[in-house]
Amino acid sequence: MRVLRMLTAGESHGPALTGILEGLPAGVPFGTAQLREQAARRRAGYGRGNRMKIEDDAADILGGVRMGKTTGGPLALSIVNKDFKNWAEVMAAEGPGPRKRAVRVPRPGHADLVGALKYGHEDMRDVLERASARETAMRVALATAARSLLSEMGVQVRSRVVSVGGAEDDAGMKAAVDAAKAAGDTVGGVFEVTALGLPPGLGSYAQWDRRLEGDLAKAVMSLNAVKGVEVGLGFAGASLRGSEVHDAFYWNAKRTKVVRKTNRSGGVDGGVTTGEPLVVRGALKPIATLMNPLPSVDLAARKPAAAHIERSDTCAVPAAAVIAESLICLELADHMLLKFGGDSLKELKAHYAASRR
Ligand SMILES: Cc1cc2nc3c(=O)[nH]c(=O)nc-3n(C[C@H](O)[C@H](O)[C@H](O)COP(=O)(O)O)c2cc1C
Repeated sequence: MRVLRMLTAGESHGPALTGILEGLPAGVPFGTAQLREQAARRRAGYGRGNRMKIEDDAADILGGVRMGKTTGGPLALSIVNKDFKNWAEVMAAEGPGPRKRAVRVPRPGHADLVGALKYGHEDMRDVLERASARETAMRVALATAARSLLSEMGVQVRSRVVSVGGAEDDAGMKAAVDAAKAAGDTVGGVFEVTALGLPPGLGSYAQWDRRLEGDLAKAVMSLNAVKGVEVGLGFAGASLRGSEVHDAFYWNAKRTKVVRKTNRSGGVDGGVTTGEPLVVRGALKPIATLMNPLPSVDLAARKPAAAHIERSDTCAVPAAAVIAESLICLELADHMLLKFGGDSLKELKAHYAASRR
């Protein structure tokens, strides 16, 4: 992001998550009803764990909004952890300890071991509390403002689950989750985000770091457990011929406009939006906490041990789809502001209209 700046803070079981989104124009409609709607979408989905029943993820607005509209000041949000009373001792910010619920056996595939080595933690709870995807509740909340800006500009961002555990139909996906859960195992999958109503001309081919795909890939890859991103045909295009991959150009009937009859590019050519729907997919690896744990090592005792078990989901693909959608909203709102500019929504809309003319 270039125009917008975002920071989050807070631990999974800490007192609250905090976030700031700075650089939004004034006048963007924003309120708790929108926050609740997006939070509920992130929480839903087959395969989530008990945590989602405890939290309602309702963010409190601490700054940057008055009477239902952004002011142009930094947007500041907080999501209070309803379960903190049960974690107050474990997560105490002060005091000598003892460290309760310390984590000494890293989970393969999670940040536990690399985090312990990097920051010198003996209790890997100091790692997992921040590496947890719980943090994305705040990113989704902040992105709600970006989503509102896009909606004002006629852009709708949607998502769907493409596959879970290799299955592509609803019943197969649910069966894959059930079977994994019964085996104490987990499953990943693929999600797809689509943005409709984008103008042509966002992003640029002129410099490597202005290409839109680069920004989108970074946004999706920044989501925990995402291991692959593709735009349009993506990896499938690599084994097809050019004639099967590129979107041919035609005149419309009046010869006033160049049209494409296909959208295999996923809405981006040369790092620039074409005006066709933007289509981005992400691959989510299976969750790293297995109820039937993988072999690991006890770092304190220097012995083999079964990996740590923490309350956990079986499948997070539906949630990941909604989160990726939010992260793409942030990136697209940033590109709208970069291209059209404006300190208020009114100004942004006027610049946009002038550009379309
Ligand atoms: C929405 C969502 C929920 C997740 N929930 C869990 C969970 O409950 N337990 C877990 O071990 N990992 C969970 N993960 C995955 C971890 O965050 C991920 O394995 C960890 O960040 C390490 O992956 P990385 O190497 O991509 O960062 C979740 C991921 C997402 C996107």
